[in-house]
Amino acid sequence: MDNMKQDLPIAVFDSGLGGISVLRELRALMPEENYLYFGDSANAPYGVRSLEDVRALTIRAISTLYNRGIKAAVIACNTATSAAIIPLREQFADIPVIGMEPALKPAVLEHPHECVLVLATALTLREEKFSHLMESYDRLAEVISLPCPELVEFVERGELDSPALDAYLAERLGPWRDRADAAVLGCTHFPFLREAIRKHLNPSAVLYDGGAGTARQTRRQLELRNLRRGGDDLGHVVIENSLGTPEILGRSCRLLEL
Ligand code: DGL
Repeated sequence: MDNMKQDLPIAVFDSGLGGISVLRELRALMPEENYLYFGDSANAPYGVRSLEDVRALTIRAISTLYNRGIKAAVIACNTATSAAIIPLREQFADIPVIGMEPALKPAVLEHPHECVLVLATALTLREEKFSHLMESYDRLAEVISLPCPELVEFVERGELDSPALDAYLAERLGPWRDRADAAVLGCTHFPFLREAIRKHLNPSAVLYDGGAGTARQTRRQLELRNLRRGGDDLGHVVIENSLGTPEILGRSCRLLEL
């Protein structure tokens, strides 16, 4: 019975394709685990929706995954975490539910008194979870919140490098280009735009994202509950998306292999 439990997949959820950047980190750290990725691209972007909407969509998606049998759920979306992590942990108390937050702490600790940009969705930046994070760290550095919701849609379209993307980034990041010492990629879609973003910042600016930390936190949670899958065999990865089209599934697989 116990072995069966350890063989169950880890669910990885995002509003769309962004969580694949976290799935990559999870697989790099724990290749023997089985994964079930669900992206809700039919309802993306979440970051411009109301809190209630995002909470309801997230709880609905995790309920469906939970009923299929999973041993843990990774909310690979800063926006969905801000909106729903508390009710999710209450409702699915018998499995670890791991959330995400912008990697502000390492950025500020490594750049004291310097200028740190936080790129995220509007919802993430206005919610309580981020306010708490700001209260803890914004005295240590000059922290600038920069909502960039359109970047989510570039990634959803598979547009990781284009003149339109460059024009958007030039307009958004231009005012900070010479001042920013670090930038936090506070949305899981943004690591796919790392190179495009880097072109619009000072070459010495350091970029941070929370994917690797979330993968380590997931491993800790599984170990605490004796839920790690042993052996050297590579686990399975299943990718599903609410759009269900061959295009979105193909794009998901390409992002996973990037
Ligand atoms: N990937 C999500 C995040 O980390 C947000 C994307 C969206 O707005 O749908 O915040």
